[in-house]
Amino acid sequence: MWKGLLQEYKEFLPVNERTPRLTLHEGNTPLIHLEELSKQFGINLHVKVEGANPTGSFKDRGMVMAVAKAKEEGSKTVICASTGNTSAAAAAYAARAGMRCIIVIPDGKIAMGKLAQAVMYGAEIIAIEGNFDEALAMVRKLSESSPLTLVNSVNPYRIEGQKTAAFEICDQLGKAPDVLAIPVGNAGNITAYWKGFKEYNEKKETGLPQMRGFEAEGAAAIVRNEVIPNPETIATAIRIGNPASWQYAVDAADSSNGKIDEVTDEEILKAYHLLASTEGVFAEPASCASLAGVIKQLESGEIIPGSTVVAVLTGNGLKDPNTAIDSSHFKPVVLPNEEKAVFEHIEGVMAS
Ligand code: F0G
Repeated sequence: MWKGLLQEYKEFLPVNERTPRLTLHEGNTPLIHLEELSKQFGINLHVKVEGANPTGSFKDRGMVMAVAKAKEEGSKTVICASTGNTSAAAAAYAARAGMRCIIVIPDGKIAMGKLAQAVMYGAEIIAIEGNFDEALAMVRKLSESSPLTLVNSVNPYRIEGQKTAAFEICDQLGKAPDVLAIPVGNAGNITAYWKGFKEYNEKKETGLPQMRGFEAEGAAAIVRNEVIPNPETIATAIRIGNPASWQYAVDAADSSNGKIDEVTDEEILKAYHLLASTEGVFAEPASCASLAGVIKQLESGEIIPGSTVVAVLTGNGLKDPNTAIDSSHFKPVVLPNEEKAVFEHIEGVMAS
């Protein structure tokens, strides 16, 4: 039975005999081959389904490590700023570890499922009339003077936990892919994957992928090479204008012959619907920046036909039911409770 990341990857992680073996059995997520889209695009396309983690996003990988170390060090309270997924994971692992969790979120700009999670796991929730970058600046400052452990991805243990996804991809494919496509927000995850691919390659000669990271157009600070004071995108998870791991993301792209690029909200939504309706995989909008980026760079010729490509799907589609409904022009057909009317309608649908 899969025992969770701290147990399974202990030789790669800062785990010692005093580290609590915290787990919700995170990790070991599916790598799904996309049969139909591979055919359509002329590549060998897989998705790493991080929405299959216990709280529905990749954040569980980093959070299990960060919260376990906080507990080991005697901390009683963790704090983070979040666009939603970090706060859900922090709240869950803090509950599991018997610790308090304080989260600071941009008011009205986090998806409903994520807010529901923070409420259920019992976090103290502070919503500010500001954005993620402003919330992060506040919690960073406060954690310097208060007995709080900061569990945003500037906490190095987060990166350690998150690098395990790269290990899994190498084991699932038998080697690293040619291209790793990943959404970029605060840029912690691309940093973690690059570290993971390099470490695994050193130990097991699994090779290195091109790292291709994708920001949302309205929040593309790295692409523009300037801080965006008021980032905007439908992909609220990556609505970030001053990524904390900026330089690490640039380094990952440069040293792997990859690129940090941007995708529009329209491209994100198109990929989001295509993925769910063609392959049966429902990932939240920010996640689909990776697939949107693959489509864009196939068209530009930057990704070459025949490549083995892994697109990271960072969060579960159920996190954000509102975007799913609002972007689907969905109108329920309401019929009287009569066999004849229902049968006629379904027969009409089948004939069309
Ligand atoms: N995808 C999803 C679903 C996310 O929630 C995030 C980040 C990212 C991609 C980007 O990852 O920041 O490491 O570059 N969410 C953070 C949060 C900011 O607060 O949940 P990154």
